[in-house]
Amino acid sequence: MKTNQESGFLKIKGGTPLKGKVKVQGSKNAALPVMAAALLLDNGEVHLRNVPKLLDVQTMSDLLVSLGAVVKRDDHTMTIEIEGEPAWETPSSLVRKMRASSLVLGPLLARCGRVILPLPGGCAIGSRPMDLHFKGLSKMGAQIELDKGAVIARADKLVGARIYLDFPSVGATENLLMAAVLAKGETLIENAAREPEIDNLVRALKSMGAAIEGEGTGILRVRGQKELNPATIDIIPDRIEAATYLLAGAITRGDITVKGVVAEHLNALLAKLDEAGIEVINKENELRVNSPARPRGLTVKTMPYPGFSTDLQPQMMALLSLAEGTSVIYETIFESRFLHASELQKMGAQIELQGNTAIIHGQSSLIGAEVYATDLRGGAALVLAGLAAEGETVVYDVHHLDRGYENMAEKLILLGAEVCEGKDNIKARKQ
Ligand code: EPZ
Repeated sequence: MKTNQESGFLKIKGGTPLKGKVKVQGSKNAALPVMAAALLLDNGEVHLRNVPKLLDVQTMSDLLVSLGAVVKRDDHTMTIEIEGEPAWETPSSLVRKMRASSLVLGPLLARCGRVILPLPGGCAIGSRPMDLHFKGLSKMGAQIELDKGAVIARADKLVGARIYLDFPSVGATENLLMAAVLAKGETLIENAAREPEIDNLVRALKSMGAAIEGEGTGILRVRGQKELNPATIDIIPDRIEAATYLLAGAITRGDITVKGVVAEHLNALLAKLDEAGIEVINKENELRVNSPARPRGLTVKTMPYPGFSTDLQPQMMALLSLAEGTSVIYETIFESRFLHASELQKMGAQIELQGNTAIIHGQSSLIGAEVYATDLRGGAALVLAGLAAEGETVVYDVHHLDRGYENMAEKLILLGAEVCEGKDNIKARKQ
């Protein structure tokens, strides 16, 4: 894994249809909140299985250690040991690295009755406020102050409450859930997020002894407990990583099988691929894309789960850049998640942006170019475009990819891609 000053690039020789099988990693967006949930323990260990090896997982692990936990890793398993009360002041150096650090707010407030958390601020894809987190915690009796760019939260004892989320925010649902499991009385979270990663967190908390009903329904009912217990927890497969490889197979008109995936988690994507005339064979926990045909143009609207995931929008834009006819993408979750479009245009894609709408005029081919990853999923879209393009593409700043894709280059090479990695000194390049 690369440092922040040191990034890297991927050199891709495009045009090879990908072939073969690839195994899905554990889910980044399920592992991070489950790791934070370990802070809810008084004493003892949580043992996690199928944990992906990613920069973001390492950052969460460093954050837990900075709060007093002992974290041991062995390949794809992880043990988090908690002894006594954790620290409640979180180091800004780590929080700034990763927005998901804010997922310690709920558990620390429930365990320690106070937290100081530097506000993670926005990122490339949007301003990403935390007002829904604060509103919900205030309803549970917390005092929330913002001071010098940090949130200071206090609550002698959180009390159960009825909370309606104005938007089914994933992060707010996770923080409120983790706060509610140790609160006094019952909490009802209405219009809660329904992502599979939320269900994984609910199952994890229930295996630690929490009392929760309603996973997958959008209404979560939580009866607070005095304490939680050690547990062993399985992390679900990463639906976004799985879908990225399916789209890599589709864009190169190849024949690949993604193994160890929960197909149901990808219903929205599978429906869109079917609409585009791309055949996907669903067999047990394997999905096979085998489609020599050029995709048909589509209209795609990103929505909260079970709608089409915003984390697949950039990769879908890359595919639709090579589709027949005109496609339209409406990005309804994040206000600035089209940064990859200008990089795709360098490769010959014809994309018009109008606010949160992208109109894509499909081209018969793309041309290799030097492009820059601006964020995790935007970076993945550029890799996909490079795999389909004529000639050579160099994708810079691939440290963004290491945040969410385990061994992407190796996996692509196993599928027959002509890819090589290289180190690049950002500082030197920017001078
Ligand atoms: C999670 O982010 C994921 N990250 C994101 O994946 C994903 O894009 C997002 O959910 C939506 O599915 C993790 O799980 C670690 P939200 P999160 O709170 O929790 C607004 C990836 O590529 N909002 O559901 O931050 C917010 O600004 C990443 O793996 C408020 O206005 O997402 C955004 O527009 C990127 N106020 C929308 O809601 C709040 O208090 C969705 O945010 C909270 C959110």
